[in-house]
Amino acid sequence: EAYEAGEHASYMRKEMLEQPEAARRVVSGRLDKRFATAHLGGLNLDARETREIQRVKVLGCGSAYYVGQMGALLIEELARIPADAEAASEFRYRDPVIEPDTLYVAVSQSGETIDTLLAVQEVRRKGGRCIGLVNVVGSAIARECDGGLYLHAGPEVAVASTKALTTMFLGFALLALQLGRVRDLSIADGRRLIAGLEALPEQVEAVLAQEDALAETARELAKAESLFFVGRVRGFPVAREGAQKFKEISYRHAEAYQTSELKHGPLALISPAVPTVAIVPDDELTDRNVGALHEIAARGGPLVVVTHEGLDLGGLPATRIDVPRNEKELDPILLTIPLQVLAYHAALHLGHDIDKPRNLAKSVTVE
Ligand code: G6P
Repeated sequence: EAYEAGEHASYMRKEMLEQPEAARRVVSGRLDKRFATAHLGGLNLDARETREIQRVKVLGCGSAYYVGQMGALLIEELARIPADAEAASEFRYRDPVIEPDTLYVAVSQSGETIDTLLAVQEVRRKGGRCIGLVNVVGSAIARECDGGLYLHAGPEVAVASTKALTTMFLGFALLALQLGRVRDLSIADGRRLIAGLEALPEQVEAVLAQEDALAETARELAKAESLFFVGRVRGFPVAREGAQKFKEISYRHAEAYQTSELKHGPLALISPAVPTVAIVPDDELTDRNVGALHEIAARGGPLVVVTHEGLDLGGLPATRIDVPRNEKELDPILLTIPLQVLAYHAALHLGHDIDKPRNLAKSVTVE
């Protein structure tokens, strides 16, 4: 069956709107309610090996790297294994120490990104174990890994990745749940996560339904030459991914920062001409986030805040984008969706080629 943009203006819009379906597919048949866990048969990791993992290192490029950061946080939170993500393009150049009790996780839509493939080969050449979160079945990275899970996002054509990213995030949630339940995650927490995963596709749909309001905000943001995207902890990779999308297709300078680091530098650049898109979920950092954003408002910096329905932002002057509440561990993906729509409408407004931004390729297969 041919995969075409059809009635949509672009593949990117079509693929954004396919996210609820993709989110259903990636978890389908992989949740076990009785034992409150996930079953990922292709990982090739037994219970003993799972308990022996001392560390998780996620490797990916571009947006896959940013989702990898979200995934590493999920694994650390749920499975209580120290985890971090690194740009696969840098990894092998520092002659990394490969530890036998580290689980390496390669993440890639195409499965063909050369930097990610070479990182996997580096791990395996030095005796490490690497699993893959890959969309394209039978791709080079999938074949090179010791095991993994396919994302079932379906074909993705637009350079700016949307539905593949959503399935990557959910793939990490499944992985974290399975690792967590073999280790110390309680059955109650497992159930809580499963209910959250089941509620998520409809919530993604609800965010996408705000497209008209988001388009209006995007047109405002498109006027600026330079923007900041800020967030903390779970919100920071969201900000990084938001800035990446915005710069990729709108060609505006967009820089991501930890909200906590604003005072250590970027505040010097804040003015009425430099808007900030801030990620402010309802969590243990809300008050600190809002406090930092008041510093931006005091300097006349326009604010767009992506936050949770009903959360009191204490009189902060901001354009507000609300997303539904789910389990806090799953917040990053719901907070990411509006940023895709903002980037899309900014680029559309500016008249750019949405699906094929200048100087970029969908998959980079040569070094
Ligand atoms: C390219 C694309 C990005 C993508 C990255 C990783 O740089 O322009 O959109 O995130 O490759 O691609 P992968 O196929 O490995 O996920």
